[in-house]
Amino acid sequence: MYDYDLLVVGSANADLVIGVERRPGPGETVLGSDLTVHPGGKGANQAVAAARLGARTALLARVGDDAHGRLLLDSQHAAGVDTAGVRSGGAPTGVALITVDPSGDNSIVVSPGANARLSPEDVRDAAELLGASRVVSTQLEIPLETVTEVVRRLAPGTRFVLNPSPPVELPAEILAACDPLIVNEHEARVVLGATADPVGDEPADWARALLALGPRSVVITLGERGALVADARTTELVPSVRVRAVDTTGAGDAFTAALAWRLGAGEELTAAAEYAARVGAVAVTRAGAQVSFPTAEEVASL
Ligand code: RIB
Repeated sequence: MYDYDLLVVGSANADLVIGVERRPGPGETVLGSDLTVHPGGKGANQAVAAARLGARTALLARVGDDAHGRLLLDSQHAAGVDTAGVRSGGAPTGVALITVDPSGDNSIVVSPGANARLSPEDVRDAAELLGASRVVSTQLEIPLETVTEVVRRLAPGTRFVLNPSPPVELPAEILAACDPLIVNEHEARVVLGATADPVGDEPADWARALLALGPRSVVITLGERGALVADARTTELVPSVRVRAVDTTGAGDAFTAALAWRLGAGEELTAAAEYAARVGAVAVTRAGAQVSFPTAEEVASL
């Protein structure tokens, strides 16, 4: 009955990537590799990741009327994403300046550009897309008021997934819609800044505290330690899959997209997170964001 397994509402950025021996500190200049330009952005990444796995996927985003915007649209089309919801113009396409060190870790500065112009009105105009999607996933490289509008326009029965990255304290209205809220440790701390109650040091403590803020379920990604999944019934650690990391950029987006898709397909949270961990693991073994995301066959053969 749904046309789309997943609708992603989010950002699209051109990723300008430089490999460095060491990421620079304040006031420091370092020399790096030749520049590479990849399609990225947390929203566009999620859409490509899901579509490459086989999910029927649509993207609601805004890009500039420029070469970076065309790069991003080409990548979506190549993966099979429906881009009828991608608006164009109003500002240059978003850009992410990324440095990646030899361990695969990165530092990212984003110039939101057109992403900042993805408005509540754009969401209202996309009512048909929202009504036709089993799961809707967003992140926070677009305005918070736009995410709020998504929550208000969700069709009954549609599942809402949020990765609040970059993190801010979230209004109760958004928190209550999340199923799940997906955070890393840093994002968990920022979201928990809103709670008046003391929170313990363990991820299970954070999960409990986050659930108390309203989400129906929570996933805390813990890097090499795996991911903690929690809802009203269960709290479980899903182990990570050991691989040699080349570049972690976008792996979290691939994890979120895979999780959202599998949940929509009816899998339990733990099983969906186990699958998502395998998808994220393949993604870190290759350079770049969207270019690193696996097909379902590649995940199966990991
Ligand atoms: O999550 C990775 C993404 O963050 C990159 O692709 C970059 O565009 C930033 O949005």
